[in-house]
Amino acid sequence: MTALQARGRCVADVAQDQAAGLRRLLSGDFVRIVTLASGRRGVGKTTALINLAAALAKRGKQVMVLDEHQGAHSVVGMLGLTPCYDLSHVVRRERSLEQVLLTGPEGITVVPAGKGVESLAALGVEDQASLVQSFGQLSQPVDVVLVDAVAGVASHVLPLSLAAQELVLVVDPQPASMTDAYALIKVLNQGFARRSFHIIVNRVSGTEEGEAVFRKVATVASRFLKVRLDYMGCVPRDDKLHRATQLGRSVVDAFPATAAAQTFRDLAEAMDQWPHPEGEEGQLEAFMQRLIQTSRATAGESGLQGRM
Ligand SMILES: Nc1ncnc2c1ncn2[C@@H]1O[C@H](COP(=O)(O)OP(=O)(O)OP(=O)(O)O)[C@@H](O)[C@H]1O
Ligand SMILES: [Mg+2]
Repeated sequence: MTALQARGRCVADVAQDQAAGLRRLLSGDFVRIVTLASGRRGVGKTTALINLAAALAKRGKQVMVLDEHQGAHSVVGMLGLTPCYDLSHVVRRERSLEQVLLTGPEGITVVPAGKGVESLAALGVEDQASLVQSFGQLSQPVDVVLVDAVAGVASHVLPLSLAAQELVLVVDPQPASMTDAYALIKVLNQGFARRSFHIIVNRVSGTEEGEAVFRKVATVASRFLKVRLDYMGCVPRDDKLHRATQLGRSVVDAFPATAAAQTFRDLAEAMDQWPHPEGEEGQLEAFMQRLIQTSRATAGESGLQGRM
């Protein structure tokens, strides 16, 4: 291909991307954006996200995962994917968003965020516009974005929880996990006016334990805060979950007959039936815009711990 042909193709690609973005904008296609967060590390958030993503994909949804983690325990690492670039390359305009995307099992698209999210608060106006535009012009269809947020209440980990339409907190039956989940709810509610939270209880011995854990968190939250907690369900303790991720797969795919796989199919079905948030256009660019805005709002917020 000559340089001229290559340039012609490039221009054609850009025009095609813009047309696709415009089509999505005009059709008002709804994109559901859900962040999975937790008060403390190791509760099983990434495992839950991979399995929810697989269960949603099996229901015919086009799933995109935004992975804030890096290394072996990230979504990328657990699925055995090898990223060449990450979102920070898009932020710096060194690569297009398409060049950063990875394809995981069940056709799930993974966006490795790298340090990209952390740098958003300091972006200049032009870089912000370029980033928002790159999500707006994405040519591939997306129905659901699942975000794997870093655990905890530090200010730099909050933007992804605040920018999503729906927030799912993963908690396990350990007392420290419950108190840290409450602490996260409190910071997001009192500091940033977030009112609605979905809860998944992981690693339970049975449904009674899941319900009991939810009741404990909900009782404290309703006593001290004005929040709405929705119990999505519980995931049994099952080594097959670990085994599946060792294979770079989900239980939904590798061990579909297990109770854990059935749980994730049920959770995905329930998510599918969530109503559309009021006044929410649901476009990817609106999410990016909110993410930049909340990154600025949380930047420099120290003393979050003091609010607890
Ligand atoms: N329901 C479960 N039953 C058995 N093992 C589980 C279950 N859920 C998760 N695990 C295992 O627990 C470990 C931690 O899970 P995972 O990495 O998903 O936690 P995380 O909350 O994402 O951790 P981090 O905060 O470090 O990102 C993994 O080895 C995973 O396979
Ligand atoms: Mg994780």
